[in-house]
Amino acid sequence: MNLSNQKQRIAIGADHAGFQIKENIKRFLEQAGHTVEDVGTWSEESVDYPDFARTVAEKVSGGMAQLGVLVCGTGMGMAIAANKVPGIRAAVVHDKVTARAAREHNDANVLTLGGRLIEPGLAVEFVKEFLDAQFAGGRHQRRVDKITEMEQVRVRK
Ligand code: RB5
Repeated sequence: MNLSNQKQRIAIGADHAGFQIKENIKRFLEQAGHTVEDVGTWSEESVDYPDFARTVAEKVSGGMAQLGVLVCGTGMGMAIAANKVPGIRAAVVHDKVTARAAREHNDANVLTLGGRLIEPGLAVEFVKEFLDAQFAGGRHQRRVDKITEMEQVRVRK
């Protein structure tokens, strides 16, 4: 599905290290006509990233949002936490190549970014690239299905 032409409902969240970049991304998404659900945080006061990862991931997993964007210091904690929620494929993105591949190859539904590692302007470019890309299917579908199967075996236990 090409998400760039469609207006999406996108859940976004950040910890204190990702707050500023989250605000830039929110502005960009709203200007582009998407509906943004901002779950916080709303300042640079220290908070725990799993709280925001969980809220965004549960919204995407539950169908209340089509996609999620999460920002912490490195992007890694957010990805680790979000990927604990069944149905979530969260990918840490560092550049346009990984932003595009996350959707084309991995059908990622949550993008995570390192607020301490990337320029705010570039973060918006990576989000744009993620939205413009579409899942390629084919051999990638087979691989994503194998990931889903791993998850389902564990959820059933
Ligand atoms: C917070 O200091 C930092 O640990 C967090 O933002 C993130 O980088 C964790 O992965």
